[in-house]
Amino acid sequence: MKTLLHVDSSVRAARNPNPDHDSISKNIALRFVETWKQNRPEDEYIYRDVGANPPDFITQDWIGAVFTPEEERTPAQKERLALSDTLIAEISAADVILISSPMYNYGMPAQLKAWFDQIVRINKTFDFDLSRGDFPLRPLLSGKTLITVTSSGEFGFEKGGLREDSGHLAPHLRTLSKYLGVDVMYEIAAQYQEFGDERHRLSVAHAVDRAARIASELSRSTLAPSLDYKVANV
Ligand SMILES: Cc1cc2nc3c(=O)[nH]c(=O)nc-3n(C[C@H](O)[C@H](O)[C@H](O)COP(=O)(O)O)c2cc1C
Repeated sequence: MKTLLHVDSSVRAARNPNPDHDSISKNIALRFVETWKQNRPEDEYIYRDVGANPPDFITQDWIGAVFTPEEERTPAQKERLALSDTLIAEISAADVILISSPMYNYGMPAQLKAWFDQIVRINKTFDFDLSRGDFPLRPLLSGKTLITVTSSGEFGFEKGGLREDSGHLAPHLRTLSKYLGVDVMYEIAAQYQEFGDERHRLSVAHAVDRAARIASELSRSTLAPSLDYKVANV
């Protein structure tokens, strides 16, 4: 049995009275989940909609609690870290992580960043040792597969694209994925939402297809952890 952790982050719902307002990223992610559940109905499924229910921002007290040795934490400090503990437990339990994200102001929504800030935590998801020289941080988790689904209004954020220099969403997710213990990553991107033209229709159709294809392939594989981090192309 495997565990699929699904994190959505658009502030838009997947279904609205006016379907033009439906979140594109959530619907593409949903396609992945439907295919996965069809093939693996026995698996554990954990869902978080951080767009609708944003995690708390971290605070000075939060940092103070994190850097206090566990056995010396006050009840208030333990309480301060309770959400972080829960979110980290969900990540630790997951074999496959699906994150959907709209592009807001050329990066991820603050709500998703808040989720990462609760999770990327010293001595929980990474440790720090200056004897490692210029790279003192080391992720502590491993063996996970990540699928990211992104949606943007403009286009050309990929390498060599028209807006490559403004594409901060996918590179940021790639960097942070290592702290989730991700060895293999699949990226699905829908673009052109603001143009509402044929390019948009095709981009969404391709993304939905790709989500179903990746879900099919992964749900049939043994999900053996790979030692080398890679961004996979399916
Ligand atoms: C607050 C806000 C900021 C946005 N910023 C950008 C942006 O910087 N670049 C872009 O290409 N699209 C931008 N968009 C368009 C969204 O990325 C696009 O509507 C996307 O489909 C939203 O994801 P969703 O459909 O899952 O809600 C923005 C939309 C909103 C609401």
